[in-house]
Amino acid sequence: MKKNWNSRFSDNLKEYGGYSIGKLFALLSDPEIISLAGGLPSPEMFLKEGMRTASKNRLQENIETIMQYTNIKGEIDLIKAVIQFLKRDNIHISEENIVITSSGQHGLDITGRLFLNPGDIVIIDRPTFAGAIVAFQLQRPEFIGIDTEEAGPDVKSYEKKIEELKKKKPKYMYVIPDFQNPSGITMSLKKREALLDLSYKYDIPIVEDSPYRDLRYYGKTIPSIYELDQEREGGHVIGLYTFSKLFCPGIRVGFNIGPKDVIDRMTNIKEGNVLNTPKYNQDMCTAFLTEMNYEPHLEKCRKYYREKLNIFLQTMEKYFPPEMGITWTKPEGGLFLWVTVPEHIDTYKLFYEALKFKVAFVPGSAFYGENQSNNHMRINFSFASKEQLTEAVKRLSECIKNHI
Ligand SMILES: Cc1ncc(COP(=O)(O)O)c(C=O)c1O
Repeated sequence: MKKNWNSRFSDNLKEYGGYSIGKLFALLSDPEIISLAGGLPSPEMFLKEGMRTASKNRLQENIETIMQYTNIKGEIDLIKAVIQFLKRDNIHISEENIVITSSGQHGLDITGRLFLNPGDIVIIDRPTFAGAIVAFQLQRPEFIGIDTEEAGPDVKSYEKKIEELKKKKPKYMYVIPDFQNPSGITMSLKKREALLDLSYKYDIPIVEDSPYRDLRYYGKTIPSIYELDQEREGGHVIGLYTFSKLFCPGIRVGFNIGPKDVIDRMTNIKEGNVLNTPKYNQDMCTAFLTEMNYEPHLEKCRKYYREKLNIFLQTMEKYFPPEMGITWTKPEGGLFLWVTVPEHIDTYKLFYEALKFKVAFVPGSAFYGENQSNNHMRINFSFASKEQLTEAVKRLSECIKNHI
């Protein structure tokens, strides 16, 4: 008899579908499609020679330890290099405040597992990173979404919601202050301060996810919420980081920082989860931070992505005149921007239309934990070539014209 597997799966999985957009990505294998969908850094920005050299050296010197299990919390050389790396961003931590993760996604997963029981409340932005939603969803929380304004989340609505919830205190507030995925929006200093005030007033921790922080193309760096907290009370913010966008995503290494008690328990979860992050991958990240001259590399990335962003924005101006009623964000960094089309256009349906025009984006509905909005698109401008970006905007414009 055929087994009914579904009835055997855990309650946590009953309503879990994973990435709602996963099946859309599977449709993008046609090489003629210009994809603005994924969040991929450009391979042109990969430090290939640095990686080859570091790899050759480490495999010669350390092959036995690389092939062995290693400690759960992370390689001490990498931990020390990260502590140094964070100092340039005015974050001062010690070894007890950090755990190495197997990517940013793993950092999110550990965070959800650490804090959430079914029905617990997590406050997120509307929209927010779809990967965070799926990671937290495994613990079956309830999401409360706060609308994003031009300079970040509407903090007054945060307070209103928290007051409304009365005794049911949210477990944490999840934010991506720098060049948010998917909107590209950066949270102003005023909003960061105000969010921290709320965190103190209502005793709700902030989870600050910072994969794009070093990819600023315009304007001045704004202190991270972690830094602001350190200057005030301290201990209210958990920082999530990844090497994916600075070095390369294939290596799958990141780190979480925060109060010792939090980091100890996160390390504990990692024990039952991936045990250890592969030493080889960690060694490559240590080499990135200590041997690959990362400052000039990051400057090169900024210049390259700034050019792409400019090309994209200029082409948008040309092919999306105001009478089309379409607006888009103008990010100061990161890899994404957010396009809003007239309300009657459902971008999930438009996605399939766009494939006929050989261009792809991510429908905005994937980025809501609740009450989704259907007339947005997330656009990535880092991966396609400069020529492709121009062509993609033309194709998008042709496709959308049919619907206006
Ligand atoms: C906001 C945010 N957090 C976390 C991640 C996950 O990063 P990683 O590729 O290291 O898993 C991403 C990836 O796109 C992201 O945009």
